[in-house]
Amino acid sequence: MRTLYLSLDPYMRGRMSAAKSYAKPAVVGQPMVGGTVGEIVKSRNPKFSTGDIVLGFGGWQEYALSNGAGLRKLDPDAAPVSTALGVLGMPGMTAYVGLLEIGQPKPGETVVVAAASGAVGSVVGQIATIKGARAVGIAGGAEKCRFVADELGFDAGVDHRADDFAQRLEAACPNGIDVYFENVGGAVQHTVWPLLNDFARVPVCGVIAQYSATSAMPGPDIVSVLRKRLLLRGFIVSDFAAKQSDFLRDAGEWVRSGRLKYREDVVDGLERAPASFLGLLKGKNFGKMLVRVAR
Ligand SMILES: NC(=O)c1ccc[n+]([C@@H]2O[C@H](COP(=O)([O-])OP(=O)(O)OC[C@H]3O[C@@H](n4cnc5c(N)ncnc54)[C@H](OP(=O)(O)O)[C@@H]3O)[C@@H](O)[C@H]2O)c1
Repeated sequence: MRTLYLSLDPYMRGRMSAAKSYAKPAVVGQPMVGGTVGEIVKSRNPKFSTGDIVLGFGGWQEYALSNGAGLRKLDPDAAPVSTALGVLGMPGMTAYVGLLEIGQPKPGETVVVAAASGAVGSVVGQIATIKGARAVGIAGGAEKCRFVADELGFDAGVDHRADDFAQRLEAACPNGIDVYFENVGGAVQHTVWPLLNDFARVPVCGVIAQYSATSAMPGPDIVSVLRKRLLLRGFIVSDFAAKQSDFLRDAGEWVRSGRLKYREDVVDGLERAPASFLGLLKGKNFGKMLVRVAR
């Protein structure tokens, strides 16, 4: 397979550590792991032919070898093939299962998500809207906030870098928060927490603000979990693998009808992957981070 697109995702930070986790760390001396969209150059597997475009796990390299296990053929006429790494791929499915299976937003409820212009967050807010909830996105900087409100149709975008972030968030959530889709942890989590309503649900998807921390950061106030009868549930997208066909059906239809929009941040050249990955951990990406390895 010749790699066309390499996906850069926050989970890669965890693979660069030997700490015990749900997945094994990347092996030193082997190519760094990563989701890819590639083109079959040569095949001895009858299921794949030269020229097929496939979603796979080729890693940070220009060519990858596969026995065909875990590869999925893509139809370039159905959607741009890069979307298989974003809105119609793992990040989109993470948003779909985390919000609908754990968050379970009801019409009129308020859903808050951070990293709202990114791969997962942008889909969370738009699905919340499709389900009749109010979507409030937290993002870094005025431009990202404008994008989630004006382009993606969130009810509000709130800048976590603003000095008066807490006041702005409270103003954007006059009825409190019923679902907090946890993407970042850290300071944002601390600001969100007091606004949670009784029986709020918190799908714990990621805590990107804490992935490179060298000491434990204070967690959420556990007394409020009891008093407000909160539901917190961590999940990994693969826990809900059985929902993949539902996701592809619904998200495919929403993308085709224009109800689910997406933005990609594409850099050219594999050599730019390390710097782009570091940028992702600092909010420098604007949309799903992809490396175009070949055209
Ligand atoms: N559980 C799962 O199975 C699963 C699967 C996929 C992803 N995830 C998690 O979902 C989250 C979002 O992933 P993604 O792929 O959609 O990435 P992304 O949102 O496209 O990019 C990461 C974004 O995180 C924000 N960020 C980075 N450092 C931050 C900090 N210190 N404080 C606040 N925000 C910060 C930045 O947005 P701003 O500039 O707007 O702050 C940055 O653009 C991550 O935590 C990831 O680990 C979990």
